[in-house]
Amino acid sequence: MNQGHCFLNRILLIFLCLVVMPQKVLTVIGTRPEGIKLAPLVLELQSRPSEFKSIVCVTGQHREMLDQVLESFKIEPDFDLNLMAPNQTLAQITARAVAGLDKVFGEVLPDVVLVQGDTTTAFCGALVGHYHQVTIGHVEAGLRTGNKFSPFPEELNRRLISQLADLHFPPTKCSQDILLGEGVNPAKVFVTGNTVIDALMLTREKVAVEVPAAAKPLDSILSGKRIVLVTGHRRESHGKGFENICTAIRQVADAHEDLVVVYPVHLNPKVQEPVNRILGGHKRICLIQPLSYQGFVWLLNKADVVLTDSGGVQEEAPSLGKPVLVMRETTERPEGVAAGNAKLVGTSIEKIVDHLTELLSNPAVYAAMSDAKNPYGDGTASKQIADVLIATKSQVMDSK
Ligand code: UD1
Ligand code: UDP
Repeated sequence: MNQGHCFLNRILLIFLCLVVMPQKVLTVIGTRPEGIKLAPLVLELQSRPSEFKSIVCVTGQHREMLDQVLESFKIEPDFDLNLMAPNQTLAQITARAVAGLDKVFGEVLPDVVLVQGDTTTAFCGALVGHYHQVTIGHVEAGLRTGNKFSPFPEELNRRLISQLADLHFPPTKCSQDILLGEGVNPAKVFVTGNTVIDALMLTREKVAVEVPAAAKPLDSILSGKRIVLVTGHRRESHGKGFENICTAIRQVADAHEDLVVVYPVHLNPKVQEPVNRILGGHKRICLIQPLSYQGFVWLLNKADVVLTDSGGVQEEAPSLGKPVLVMRETTERPEGVAAGNAKLVGTSIEKIVDHLTELLSNPAVYAAMSDAKNPYGDGTASKQIADVLIATKSQVMDSK
């Protein structure tokens, strides 16, 4: 073959790669929040088959709680590493996720890997992506507390993923500024809003039409009551923190006869044990199984006050105008606090009781915290991320 022919073939190959061949995007999902936040993006990629070939790998770091989400959004994974084991250590999850993902990357040969947030799965997805020299997209990039033990181990996971990622998708300007302050190339940083708002908007429409099956048993119990919705699971609160949280909730429930506390309890045994021991059997406290996403959005929409340490719930509540008390000492989501919807109350009994009582008894404080705002996005984050993948495709190819 002469030189001219070779040159033409190369041009043709580059043209095919850039224009005709869909980008092979491997999305790695491990836990419930990653499932919720990546589902709208996977659906967006699937809806554009000429541009993307979407492949989903779940590590199964969570099982029941992740399966609920996949079922809610009708997503069928192409690979399932089925990693969950009761009470496994962080090092064990990491070792097994890296080994499992290595094989998947070898088989799929993706152009891009997408990871979300700050879990062990997300960190392992980015690390193995780097080993395979795949373009790494980090969804929900740039969140920081500045304290490497709070949240633990998530704060460090985020920092490490930022070192590995090629495309950074911070949800807000605040998280963008953090990345730029750390020296990340501005041309690789795209503010998109948080995909959790896409998920919330998709689901809110559905549950407005019909009470989801998971929520039906609650509907009559909650009628005419004021509702405090609780979620919690953070590792740094295991032990004393959870004992305090539960004691505070019990005290507030004892003091208010018109109140129902609904607490879908995270399946982590370190959460289940104190919650069931301290809150079990109280007539105004409903301890329930984790809810499907539809069930949870329905409940969140009905709740008067939210008490949580969850990242996702801190983002969803302001969009629905729900006051949130954040049972943590630090937050990487200051936008909710700045918008006036959220307050950091820590995990001391006294502070939780005081702030919750104030919200329940002072209408002015309640009104000030229940004005619906959208600090975390407008529901178009997934489309924006997919568009960036297309717009940066040539750079993606160049960087290999
Ligand atoms: C993980 C993430 C955390 C995220 C949280 C969301 C890490 C280190 N932690 O924390 O960032 O905010 O998920 O919920 O990545 N379990 C079940 N069934 C389930 C899920 C969990 O039984 O569906 C139990 C298992 O015993 C499991 C334990 O919970 O070993 C802990 O799960 P793990 O993923 O290690 O940590 P989480 O505390 O859930
Ligand atoms: N959620 C749910 N069912 C529940 C409790 C929470 O679907 O019973 C959703 C919630 O709407 C939010 C996400 O789970 O989007 C938060 O997950 P989690 O608190 O486990 O993790 P975090 O957000 O703290 O990482």
